[in-house]
Amino acid sequence: MLAIHKYVIVALLLYSCKCEVDDQYYPRYHLAPPSGWMNDPNGFCFFKGEYHLFYQYNPDSSQEPGIAHWGHAISKDLFTWEHLPIAMYPDQWYDKSGVFSGSAIVENDTMYLLYTGNLNHPDASLDHEQHQALAFSIDGESVSKYEENPVIDAPEYQPNIRDPKVWKNGDTFYMVLGNSFENETLGRALLYSSADLKSWDLVSILDKSNGSLGYMWECPDFFEIDGKFVLLFSPQGVKPQGDKYNNLYQTGYIVGNFDYDTYNFTPLTEFVELDHGHDFYATQTILDAFNRRLLVAWMDMWEQNYPERDDGWTGQMTIVRELSLSKDNHLIQKPVAEIILARGRLLYTARRTKGSKRIELTEKTGEIRIKSKASKDLNLFIESKNQSVKISYDHKQGLISLDRGGHDGLRRTGWKPIRKLKLKIYVDASSIEVFCGRGEVTFSSRFFPEDKVFVRLREDTEAEEMTVSSMRRTVEKPDSNN
Ligand code: FRU
Repeated sequence: MLAIHKYVIVALLLYSCKCEVDDQYYPRYHLAPPSGWMNDPNGFCFFKGEYHLFYQYNPDSSQEPGIAHWGHAISKDLFTWEHLPIAMYPDQWYDKSGVFSGSAIVENDTMYLLYTGNLNHPDASLDHEQHQALAFSIDGESVSKYEENPVIDAPEYQPNIRDPKVWKNGDTFYMVLGNSFENETLGRALLYSSADLKSWDLVSILDKSNGSLGYMWECPDFFEIDGKFVLLFSPQGVKPQGDKYNNLYQTGYIVGNFDYDTYNFTPLTEFVELDHGHDFYATQTILDAFNRRLLVAWMDMWEQNYPERDDGWTGQMTIVRELSLSKDNHLIQKPVAEIILARGRLLYTARRTKGSKRIELTEKTGEIRIKSKASKDLNLFIESKNQSVKISYDHKQGLISLDRGGHDGLRRTGWKPIRKLKLKIYVDASSIEVFCGRGEVTFSSRFFPEDKVFVRLREDTEAEEMTVSSMRRTVEKPDSNN
């Protein structure tokens, strides 16, 4: 009798451990799911004094995306996040195979959410279809779906038409949608307009792939910044080209002019990747109450099998970044100013410092700031007992790189620092974000250090200034038993 009891207790303990979230790789100051699976940021907005960030969410498992729900978190400062109850479940005929990505717009004290309902037909010739749907929230927590959904059916553009991003210009609402055409071989962005968010008309095709830009454009976004317009999207199917396009899918942008009378977008640039790291996808931007164009991305990539999934959670967001456009039409990304609230203790500061000193980070978090001569190489390691990430600047070739080791570890791009070489690097338990110069080049990559993390300049590297601070825990520890 006693023996049976023992087995029952052990079995119960094992069962409860299965869904425990382990803290070893869990971010201290980036948003991640309380448990389960997270992908794209959705419905980012500023509503009644708080930022809301929804996300693609599978509450039931961290091993697979499952059937997407919308998870929900709020923050006043973009670092201290509070989880709210799941905002949308796949509970309608048009979204029963997934409440896919979408965006928010705030009008008359109401938060409106436009998203894609995904509907699978496993046995039909068209194996899925996607409809656009409207939902709203008055209190910023409980969400109601519009009774006359879907608001866009678009039978002629099926089966891949998704990820509505909505904004308002004058009295009119606009929506950009990602789509695949020519028998799913080419991607494009469709522009719709509406007077009331319920009835939508297609007004133009903003831009499309000529074959070199993939078979599907996911998560498109379109916004005005510093006098130009930016079409930002995540194409699938772009082939690697030297140092470019080496992730499974890319996120990048085209800068151009746009005319609201003709709905014509005239590109001025080629497609440019927005970030050069391994894990940056499905971006979403908003104009916040302070007129800042803020951007957030999923800091992960499809089909990676990262070890966190065995810890009860998968996926996280990047630091929210403020965008601007340079004179030569490049997007500049800076961590939002609120990041100073997350800065912790000063761990190290020195002038004219040489390599070899190892600085231990606290709780695997750190902000590393470096200033150095642009005419000298720089090599820096962020290392632990099982993994070393190397950040290198090669002044002769004008190249900056991040190498996390292992298969496909290297990411590299051209960079010519203006006067001084300046780097800001943010480390958080299982991620590294590098901001070069004013933010003209960034790398966002995941790594999985065990135990302590150290930072070290290579012996032959000399920095004019180097400062290392820890970062505070601004996100709650995940439930250890949920
Ligand atoms: C991008 C994406 C979107 C889609 C969502 C589904 O990562 O594939 O196109 O709406 O994820 O979770």
